[in-house]
Amino acid sequence: MTDAGADYRFRDGAAHLIAEIDAALDRGEIDEAGWHARVADIVRPAYLAATTPQAQSGHSGDAVAWEHARGIIADAIDRDGTFLDVGCANGLLMETIVGWCAARGIRIEPYGLDIVVELAALARARLPQYAERIFVGNALTWSAPMRFDFVRVGLEYVPPRRRRDLVARLLHEVVAGDGRLVIGVYNEDVDLALTLRGIVEGWGYRVAGRSERRHRNRANEVHHVLWIDAPARTMA
Ligand SMILES: C[S@@+](CC[C@H](N)C(=O)[O-])C[C@H]1O[C@@H](n2cnc3c(N)ncnc32)[C@H](O)[C@@H]1O
Repeated sequence: MTDAGADYRFRDGAAHLIAEIDAALDRGEIDEAGWHARVADIVRPAYLAATTPQAQSGHSGDAVAWEHARGIIADAIDRDGTFLDVGCANGLLMETIVGWCAARGIRIEPYGLDIVVELAALARARLPQYAERIFVGNALTWSAPMRFDFVRVGLEYVPPRRRRDLVARLLHEVVAGDGRLVIGVYNEDVDLALTLRGIVEGWGYRVAGRSERRHRNRANEVHHVLWIDAPARTMA
């Protein structure tokens, strides 16, 4: 059976490079460890050479654009709790989500995980108050030292054929029993913004919520995010 989630191509400035890495994996020229290593070889130098905190987290805009694009993640946070940013890069989301939630009266304790050692080190140096909460590992295989109330992730962090496994693993082993898995943010054409929801539902999950905001400069584009609730929260 084909997996629509494995066929989906996310909009990405490095899309052509990622497509080459995906193809090499499909041809058997590299294994999955090689896939992650090659993606990291693109991300590492670009983020470490960046001169703004936003660019060190892979975002091309300034602080205002960052809040506009990433701020919708806070729409998924509906109560006090722990928040794990999978793919935390320099830790900017860990840092900013706290303030966005505090503005709505919600207290968040941020944690981070990144596959790139040097980026985790950068996050620890930027956020010494959270240094003990920033981990190194691959989201697909990482043994979490605890469960988190909110976990954010991007499906593009794993080979396309493992996206579904990533969601299952995080929901079963990283998200708290009554927690929430947040997927995104993605920038997409308006008419594609619901595609991800269909993919996740096709995997058998109920999408508990989603949030979307118009791109500030690109008329036909939106930022969007969606979330899945862990079983105990669904039953509550
Ligand atoms: C675009 S940045 C995300 C920055 C930020 N967290 C945000 O709000 O958008 C993606 C980060 O995910 C990390 N990453 C990619 N694949 C990963 C994986 N399998 N496990 C953990 N981190 C991963 C990359 O090293 C990179 O730092």
